[in-house]
Parts: sequence; C-alpha cells; structure tokens
Amino acid sequence: MKVPFVALAKQHKVFKSEILSMISHALDEAAFIGGENVAKFEEEFAEFCNTSHCVGVSSGTDALRFALIAVGIGAGDEVITVPNTFIATTEAITQVGARPVFVDIDPVTYNMDVSQLEGVVTDKTRAILPVHLYGQAADMDPIMELARKFNLSVIEDACQAHGALYKGNSCGSMADAGCFSFYPGKNLGACGEGGAVVTDNAELAGSVRMLRNHGQKEKYIHEIEGYNGRLDAIQAGILRIKLKQLKDWNDARIGIAACYQRLLSDIPFIRLPQEATYATRCVYHLYVVLAEKRDELRQYLYAKGIETGLHYPVPLHLQKAYEHLGYKKGDFPVAEQVAEKLLSLPIYPEMTEAQVEYVADSIKSFYTLSKNGKI
Ligand SMILES: Cc1ncc(COP(=O)(O)O)c(C=O)c1O
Repeated sequence: MKVPFVALAKQHKVFKSEILSMISHALDEAAFIGGENVAKFEEEFAEFCNTSHCVGVSSGTDALRFALIAVGIGAGDEVITVPNTFIATTEAITQVGARPVFVDIDPVTYNMDVSQLEGVVTDKTRAILPVHLYGQAADMDPIMELARKFNLSVIEDACQAHGALYKGNSCGSMADAGCFSFYPGKNLGACGEGGAVVTDNAELAGSVRMLRNHGQKEKYIHEIEGYNGRLDAIQAGILRIKLKQLKDWNDARIGIAACYQRLLSDIPFIRLPQEATYATRCVYHLYVVLAEKRDELRQYLYAKGIETGLHYPVPLHLQKAYEHLGYKKGDFPVAEQVAEKLLSLPIYPEMTEAQVEYVADSIKSFYTLSKNGKI
C-alpha cells in the first residue's frame, strides 16, 4: 500500500470543475489582481477567524513581515520567538531589521515555554511572536499578560493553525494580528502561494493593505514604500471554494489523529502528541511523534511505501544562517532533544482508515523486529 505524505491531487479532484469554471470566469473578465474574489475571500476568512479584518497577501512569510512592520518593528528591535519553527518565522523578523531572540519550548506541547519569556525581555524587546505549531494553540494568556506588562506587540504565527482554538478563541484572533499561510499543503491551501493577516485593528489592517500594494491607497500615490505582496485573484477564488470545506477537513484530521492515538498508544518507543487543556481544538496540520530509532523507522516506513516528514530536523538557533546570533548547542535543550526524535506521520483529510491502520501496523512491526534484533 502507498501512503503519500500529502494527497492534494485527490483533494482537487472533488473541486476540479468548480475551480476550472472559476478560472474560466476570471479569464473572461481578465480579473487577476484584486477584485471580487479577493474582497469576498477576505470577508469570509475574517468571519471564519472571528476577526473584523482580513488582508490577503502573497504568502505566510509576507503576512508575518507586513504585520511586524505594521506594529512598528524595525532596526534594532528584538522579537521573542521559538527555535522549532519554519525559518519563515525568523526570516520575517530579520527582514524587517529586527533580531530574533529565542526561548525554549514546552516538552509536552512543543510550543513556546511561556515561563521563559520574562527572562529574555530587554530594553530592546518590542514583540513576541508565538507559533501555533502543528495546529495546536500556544498558551496565549500568559503571553498576552507579559506583553501588557512590558508594552510589547504580539503577532501570532497561525500558519499551521487554520481553525485551531485556544480556550474557544480562534488562533490568529487573540493578539495584535494573526498570520496565515495558504501554501498548498496547509489545512487551507491555495493552488500556489497565498497568505493573510487577520486583526481587529482597522489601522493595522490599513497599513498591511498599503504594504502589500507598494505603499499606495490610491494608484501611483505612495504614502510609504511597500512591497508587491498581494493575494492574487485566482488563488483567492480557489481559497473561497476550499474554505467551505475547512471545518470538515479539520474534523477529518482530528478523527485520524484519534485513530493514530488509539492504534499507537501501547508502543513504548514512541511518544504521541499531547493536547494541552487550553488548546480546545487542535487541527493537526501535522501529526508529530517522538520516535526511538527515528531514522531507521523512517527508512523502514519508506520501504513500505509510507512517506513521513521532519518538522524540523535542525532548530533555527543551530542553523548556519543564524550563526551570527551567537547561540550554541545546549542553549535550548528541549527543542534540541525533540528535533532529534520527531517524525511527522501522514495526516490529511483524504487519508483512508486502511491507510492509517497500515501506518500504525508498520510502526508496530518495525519495533517488534527491532526488539528481536531483526533490524
Ligand atoms: C510556522 C510557519 N510560519 C510561516 C510559514 C510561511 O508561510 P509561506 O510558506 O506561505 O510563506 C509557514 C509555512 O510554510 C509555517 O509553517
């Protein structure tokens, strides 16, 4: 049996005719930049996130970058985040001229260890950038409390958390702004690049609107220098079609996670994801286990037709790109230990029960063979 890591082609088959007719309409109207699909998607996604505003942009990275600029982060500022995220989180920080400052992660949830935040606040700290990793909410209340105490902005990286909840609140809706990616494999993915900033702050939304469009509100009148960072109209049209399925897709991911949990809970060599009580809806963008003999297991699964992923094998503070930040091995022991064992198992709404069972059986057979010295 083959179990790919994602199965987007299967997902698109269901919507192919709807998507093709939307594209055909866009071609007839020559509506590629801005227009109805972008405006409507922004309305619909803001409603989904329970925020007053949504601004479509060209990627999650741009969403983060524009949100940071919009709250006034720039050269010389420090932004606190985690080392176990996709590099886009920190690229956004450095590309606005600021410096990422890391705190370690919680060993249970793999999200920001909020107890370490106060210890790294300096007179240059201007913002906190928590990541709702793998689809589970970071512990926002203590983050917001600390932000109030030190007058810091908070930008949520919700690029892996479309529809996830924290104490009933949508991820992305709790801080100054929330940033989403619609990279194809995300819980809500475009057929290309896309992203969004959601916020309740009209002024902030206005700034992001200008930033994504060369700093102009009115054509060729530039209040500031901006970027070419718009969400294109065809992607917005596709996102509108797919957004209608997002709740059901997230339910399906939650079902698959429960199935893995049931099938794998008696294997002592792997640690399954754990949901914090405050994370009232985990949407399992990724299903990440910590596995003994991770690399051998991964190879074994691959030979059995099962693709897996590593999110992320080298924490950011140990990446060559961030040598200049001056961190060293041992600085964030939890993130480092987790990185050595983590393994992302396939999880997507189109996955069949037979596929989930096959993955679980294969993991079991690996550890049985390994225990008996046969691997
Ligand atoms: C946690 C996180 N932050 C930021 C990004 C950046 O999003 P994009 O690839 O749309 O630029 C991603 C997605 O890849 C992500 O997973």
